[in-house]
Amino acid sequence: MINNEVLSSALRERFGRQPQLFIRTYGCQQNVADSEKIRGLMEGLGCIVCDDPSAADIVIFNTCAVRGHAEDRVFGNIGAMKSVKTERPEVIVIMGGCMVQQPHIADSIRKSYPYVDIIFNTNNISELPGRISGFLDTGKRLLDPSCSEYTLNEGIPAVRDMERCRAYLPIMYGCNNFCSYCVVPLVRGRERSRRPEDVVKEFRECVQAGCKDIMLLGQNVNSYGNNSGFGVDFPDLLRMLNDVEGDFVIRFMTSHPKNASKKLFDTIAECGKISRHIHLPVQSGSDRILKLMNRNYTREQYMELINYARSVIPDVYFTSDIIVGFPGETEEEYLQTCSLIEEANYYATFSFIYSKREGTPAAKMPDDTPHSVKAQRLNALNEIQRKVTEKLELGLVGTRQRGICTGYLQDGTFECRINNNAEVTVTGSAEINSFCDITITDYINRRLYGKAE
Ligand code: 5AD
Ligand code: SF4
Repeated sequence: MINNEVLSSALRERFGRQPQLFIRTYGCQQNVADSEKIRGLMEGLGCIVCDDPSAADIVIFNTCAVRGHAEDRVFGNIGAMKSVKTERPEVIVIMGGCMVQQPHIADSIRKSYPYVDIIFNTNNISELPGRISGFLDTGKRLLDPSCSEYTLNEGIPAVRDMERCRAYLPIMYGCNNFCSYCVVPLVRGRERSRRPEDVVKEFRECVQAGCKDIMLLGQNVNSYGNNSGFGVDFPDLLRMLNDVEGDFVIRFMTSHPKNASKKLFDTIAECGKISRHIHLPVQSGSDRILKLMNRNYTREQYMELINYARSVIPDVYFTSDIIVGFPGETEEEYLQTCSLIEEANYYATFSFIYSKREGTPAAKMPDDTPHSVKAQRLNALNEIQRKVTEKLELGLVGTRQRGICTGYLQDGTFECRINNNAEVTVTGSAEINSFCDITITDYINRRLYGKAE
């Protein structure tokens, strides 16, 4: 067991002051939530967060591996630590998260990035103090990316920065889906759900602390509670949270279509505090590609879900993730994805060119489409989405909405996030982080404008 007081004073002694801590977070909301716990833990060791990596004593990179681009960015940014370490060798550089938890990346850090001191595994954040202490004692780099046990990181206080007035609340960790392109199951381990009472307790604390927009997180929230013996599935959990007293919006990410049930949509329809925005990533509109991706649903089954949801929640807005240029995807299969965007009438899609990930089944599939063709496809697909979005946004003009004021702009207008997750620029006044009623008056240059009532 690490004695926090001994470790804090060792750190204070090393730096001659309370350690200044900089955390850089890459990737998804789940990583943001992990970083909030890392911050909570490090503040418990006397660290003070600062916003300048070159002035910090301890720099932590919480990394993402989802696409090659994310990894390239991390390598670029840790490169900048070289000069910091040359000037102040006492600085401690720490890396954790999906990217460095892959053994081949940990190896290349060992070989090519000598100024990285510690790697830790975010599946067990509580092991971090032990690694820091081991490094201080021996002066030797600790670069083992594994952890003793995959945990729920329970009991570590999150220090939320509430960026844009939103609180992230993980309800589960890991992933059992093994989509053939995806590195996540390899780095985040098997699915494990937090106990419903722990989720409800933390949710209540968020509401009591004034959070109005709370996003539940999991790689696949629809399989919450599976194999746990809780007797509470995701719709049950939503209902429990909807029943918590107070004024707030519940959001959640991410839903896997294979586990999205009618019960989920019925629950949303019946519970007024759940956002009418559902992120339901489809990835492709072609059944052959969906099969190769190991997604476990067909286009028809996916559309049945969307249509059922729309029948019970008429004002629902769907968003999606799409991968363009999966190995072997033909022009015709790509066009099927384009037509699905129109059929599903997405409010927004987050589309990416397929990125080969070491250790995944798709990495072994033949991929002969040139990158330039994939890039053209991505552009054309985004253009289709832009038009679909435009129609939906024009349809919002003239409507009254309830939203949360998330901050003021220089010209005195404020940003308001409405139920479907859209941002509206509003004239009038409202208190930051409070609900307000607005009317949407305009849609200009792909932005919604409104006035406070
Ligand atoms: N290449 C491209 N996009 C990917 N995603 C996940 N893995 C890959 C990959 N190897 C996308 C998926 C997922 C989102 C978070 O990132 O669309 O839903
Ligand atoms: Fe990146 Fe996926 Fe890990 Fe999130 S879970 S940080 S998106 S690799």
